[in-house]
Amino acid sequence: MEQDIEVIRDKNSMRNWSRTKRAQGEKICLVPTMGYLHRGHLALVEEAKKRATRVVVSIYINPAQFAVGEDFSTYPSNFEGDLDKLKDLGVDTVFVPSDLYVREDNAGAGKGQDNIASGCISCLEGKSGNGHETWIRVEKMEKPLCGKSRPIFFRGVATVVAKLFNIVEPDFAVFGKKDYQQCRLICRMVRDLDFAVEIVGCGIVRDSDGLALSSRNVHLSPKERQEALSICRSLNQVKDAVCNGQISTGILQHSVLEAVRNAGGKIDYVEIVDQETLQHVDRIDLPVVLCVAAWFGGVRLIDNIELQAPTS
Ligand code: PAJ
Repeated sequence: MEQDIEVIRDKNSMRNWSRTKRAQGEKICLVPTMGYLHRGHLALVEEAKKRATRVVVSIYINPAQFAVGEDFSTYPSNFEGDLDKLKDLGVDTVFVPSDLYVREDNAGAGKGQDNIASGCISCLEGKSGNGHETWIRVEKMEKPLCGKSRPIFFRGVATVVAKLFNIVEPDFAVFGKKDYQQCRLICRMVRDLDFAVEIVGCGIVRDSDGLALSSRNVHLSPKERQEALSICRSLNQVKDAVCNGQISTGILQHSVLEAVRNAGGKIDYVEIVDQETLQHVDRIDLPVVLCVAAWFGGVRLIDNIELQAPTS
């Protein structure tokens, strides 16, 4: 049933809302997103509804996690469409911060506005000494996998998520395992810095053909989309090979690499790592996770498959 949805744009109002609700005995679950919502995001909302009496969905394209030259300025958005989807799910509060980072006065169109066209992190830090300058780094976990080609990505993610936790003060927060490294890194940050929030990880939601849903899929041409199916197909083949006793991570990784390359993709990485530490493993010692990042045309896709010991 459709109901009114409250859009909160200011961080003090958001914190006041949360504190009032918590004082009334409500449990709050936060679902952080960058918008352009699809069924993957909505599954996180469904999970959040199971845990808490109030669900806050944040929509914020975080400039601090995009390097210069990445797709900050072309990242898709459809705010009205997002609100409709969240209304249909019965979400009552959406946090769309307009004042998340403190900027120096001459950064962009005005003080306090997150309007950086290039997603350039130096615009946040600025030159006057008054800009944002505090970062959270999860030092080891930010380095492998996506961290190799996106060295500032995870400090941007960890910092914005910490800010959201401090503003919303949720009891729970839900993250998708589609972004496996992100999900694990946030768990580590919460543990290490004693955030009073329980992190819930949610499985990957896929299209009927197997492609992991992503806001960026909209930029794939029909041909690239077909080619991109090589990722999930080869991940499933690895799962079968492990079930059949293959324990060499080198052989398994190579099979994914070949399949994705032959389909026309450009590999960023294919790696089998420990599920907790994300450190590379040489031989399959379950549980592990196989993570892939590859380019199809101008679109970088990530996907993964958890390889678990069979339960008898
Ligand atoms: P975004 O890419 O919008 O994703 C928001 C959340 O949705 C993340 O937790 C992500 O893992 C999850 N998600 C995306 N596609 C999914 C799928 N197919 N199945 C399951 N979950 C999926 O991730 C971010 O935004 C940002 O980095 C953020 C955490 C909001 C910080 O800026």
